[in-house]
Amino acid sequence: MHFQWYPGHMTKAKRQMQEDIKLIDLIIELVDARIPLSSRNPDIDGLGKQKARLILMNKADLADPDKTEVFNRYFKEKGYFTVNLDARSRAGMKAVQNTILEACKEKTERDRKRGIRNRPVRAMVVGIPNVGKSTFINTYAGKACTKTGNRPGVTKGKQWIRLNKNVELLDTPGILWPKFEDQTVGLHLALIGSIKDEILNTDGLALELIRILLKDYPGSLAGRYGITETKDAAQVLGAVAEARNCIGKGGEPDYGKAALIVIDEFRSGKTGRFTIEMP
Ligand code: G4P
Repeated sequence: MHFQWYPGHMTKAKRQMQEDIKLIDLIIELVDARIPLSSRNPDIDGLGKQKARLILMNKADLADPDKTEVFNRYFKEKGYFTVNLDARSRAGMKAVQNTILEACKEKTERDRKRGIRNRPVRAMVVGIPNVGKSTFINTYAGKACTKTGNRPGVTKGKQWIRLNKNVELLDTPGILWPKFEDQTVGLHLALIGSIKDEILNTDGLALELIRILLKDYPGSLAGRYGITETKDAAQVLGAVAEARNCIGKGGEPDYGKAALIVIDEFRSGKTGRFTIEMP
């Protein structure tokens, strides 16, 4: 399967991000906890040198909790702060707030030594499309926030959301570009629904998904569909078609319909909580 991303968009997004990063202390990067590597673009590391870094493992509600912990350790070893999150819920926001302050402690300390007090930490949210950036900003900022307008020294048109006395957030998230050159990355992004299904071969995608689940999460498809798992992904898809009454006009299994069911129930978490890659 081949996936496209337009270089023009990429260059513009990158230039914008370079400008925005100059204004902030902390980069809050959202990744999808089901594919914490494929949903990142490591180019942000180059752009964000010298900045404090927080990775939010978002959609953790859909990911395998044990593997999420493995990734937490992995990212921490590399110097990132991390928080596991369901951005739709306010429950995790206290942890985010505390971790932001911890991540920016050195900077706050430097300010204090220079006699600067109560200067809020400035942050921006970044991530590839669909990782939950807008959802996070809405939940985190809530209703309580006040928007501050243009200020001297701040790029015209930039809006800051004042979250509390300690943190200000740039109101528009930075959009990172997915790394499509690697076809495994493309496959993972397609599986979680980050690429429009219209341009995908969903039958092929479902077969890839079945292969991954048979290998990494044996028993999960059997549990969901009441079928017998065999090594042959097409056979398993046929069994799902039968179990879910997906029958074509001639009475043969409707693989296309079964494929959509397998993909959809995987994405929505009905089949289980899965992480489909490891560090
Ligand atoms: P973006 O700005 O990064 O592009 O992402 P956005 O916030 O639009 O979120 C993309 C989708 O992911 C939304 O679903 C959103 O509800 C969902 N989402 C965001 N964070 C989480 C999370 O932590 N857990 C889960 N399970 N879902 C999350 P949607 O399909 O576009 O809309 P809807 O299904 O909410 O109606």
